[in-house]
Amino acid sequence: MKIWIGALGTTANLCRKMSLPCGRAAGKALCLAAAMFFFAGSAWGAKSQAPKPPLSAPASAASCVGCHGEAGLSANSLWPNLAGQKRDYLAKQLKAFRDQDRVDPMMNAIAQSLSDSDIEALTAYYSSLKP
Ligand code: HEC
Repeated sequence: MKIWIGALGTTANLCRKMSLPCGRAAGKALCLAAAMFFFAGSAWGAKSQAPKPPLSAPASAASCVGCHGEAGLSANSLWPNLAGQKRDYLAKQLKAFRDQDRVDPMMNAIAQSLSDSDIEALTAYYSSLKP
């Protein structure tokens, strides 16, 4: 919030300096609206372009490495890659394995020991890795 107020103050000064029609209330409002649009746009752009750094592996990932690989890339054509997979999808699958709604003897056994917070950490981690 402070940043916004600061940015708006600076913009109002800028508008005045550039002798834009900011003297009148309507002009000022327009000028500020344009500036807000600009700032919002640039903040949005910066957010969507910045690559997210991969997270570090949670302790519970130690039991996944053997099959799904060190970086979520499996070495076996029957074991799926997890790296870069959608987080909600991974969570849904792990809960389905845990509840036996999805059947695979290996995953059903492993998912038994996962708590909801384990699943949260694991899915955040695997979805952050490069596919
Ligand atoms: C013994 C090997 C093995 C281990 C260990 C293992 N998995 Fe799996 N995992 C599999 C296999 C095999 C499948 C595919 C099951 C199927 O065909 O339905 C799978 C599937 C999955 C899927 C679903 C992927 C998809 O694309 O639908 C997720 C998510 C997953 N595992 C996460 C984990 C996590 C997290 C761990 C560690 C806590 C783990 N696995 C440990 C073998 C393993």
